Amino acid sequence: MTERKGRGGWSERQYDALLTAVVVAIGVGDTWIKPSNGLLTGQPTAVVAIVSGLVGSTLWWRRRSPAVVAVVVMVGYVIAFTPVALAVAMYTVGETYRRMRTLVLLGAASCAAGVLVLWTGPPDWDLREAGFTIAFILGPLIVGYTVAIRRDLALEAQSTIEALEREKHLLVERAQVGERARIARELHDVVAHRVGNIVLTAGALKVGSQARDPAAAEAAELIRDEGHQALEELREVLGVLTPGRRGQVAPARAPHPDASQLDKLVEGAARLGRRATLRVDGHPETLPAPVQRAIHRIVQEGLTNAAKHAPGAEVGVLVECRMDGVEVRVTNGPAAGSRDADSPPSGGNGLIGLAERVALLDGTVTAGPYDGGYRIDAFIPHGAPPANT
Ligand SMILES: Nc1ncnc2c1ncn2[C@@H]1O[C@H](COP(=O)(O)OP(=O)(O)OP(=O)(O)O)[C@@H](O)[C@H]1O
Ligand SMILES: [Mg+2]
Repeated sequence: MTERKGRGGWSERQYDALLTAVVVAIGVGDTWIKPSNGLLTGQPTAVVAIVSGLVGSTLWWRRRSPAVVAVVVMVGYVIAFTPVALAVAMYTVGETYRRMRTLVLLGAASCAAGVLVLWTGPPDWDLREAGFTIAFILGPLIVGYTVAIRRDLALEAQSTIEALEREKHLLVERAQVGERARIARELHDVVAHRVGNIVLTAGALKVGSQARDPAAAEAAELIRDEGHQALEELREVLGVLTPGRRGQVAPARAPHPDASQLDKLVEGAARLGRRATLRVDGHPETLPAPVQRAIHRIVQEGLTNAAKHAPGAEVGVLVECRMDGVEVRVTNGPAAGSRDADSPPSGGNGLIGLAERVALLDGTVTAGPYDGGYRIDAFIPHGAPPANT
């Protein structure tokens, strides 16, 4: 049975123990004060005190069997006149039962018990006492019932609020999915079309210049391959962002560049005439997929930045698996030539994107000028959360 916390951090059991003790004490102490002792009127005070105490102690079970306790207390009330115990039992009945028939039955029975006690009481008792006794019994019953109904309503309101919040969340999520799909389509229209043209043009250039100029043909092939790769990766990213044909979100076909492709990245840079070296310490290909993806993207951005912002510079890539995590460092020396007017435009998003990606994995990225050149230094600790990065 789970123990609920009640008023002031007290457990229900602690609260019930205190209540029962107080009612027993009142029942016993009352023996010397009250004008009637029910059927025990005229019996030795000690006997009345013991019976009153026993009647009060049954309240310990009031939550487990409220109706049984109410009936026992009613009988006790007739025998020893224990109004406080009866009031508590009636309150519990009102608080527990929602069926009107049960409430009316127990209320009527306790009123009958009250009248019976009056019957056996002093002969000078009149209708006013009867009314007072009945109110004393019915009052707690109604109060208990009202408290329970209010509690039910509060719970219902709480669950309605929660359901509304869940619904709102779902609506926001659905709107976000729609917005992502719209951006994805936009991205496709803007990029795929133009890169497709570049790939086709490069293919035609390769075929046309194969015989006349083998170097130009090789360069055209490189452009075509890079374009193909870019389109492939773009399609994978769009697959994640775009809803499926029947409106569902497409199965997560997240792009899967991983740490095993680092040498290809560096080779690709070398094929484009850049001086790049790779050193890998340990086995990054065994790390979790999000961490491998992050490593791949850091190296990719580092190589691209070096080519863009420090043309002709030598680039060193280091991936070091350590006990506490993995360190990725891309360092380039000073630029060997001036920046080409045809080099891609600077968006200033690359390093910010890296920092966000690595932060999702609890890691850090620092980047800045270093020894006449530039350095990106990232660290991703082990036990990184399985973020969808
Ligand atoms: N290897 C580097 N050598 C010199 N400067 C660099 C290097 N890498 C980055 N920078 C500087 O840091 C800035 C931010 O780099 P970042 O990668 O965020 O943007 P970007 O490369 O200009 O554009 P993109 O959004 O396409 O990546 C660059 O504009 C550049 O001034
Ligand atoms: Mg960049």
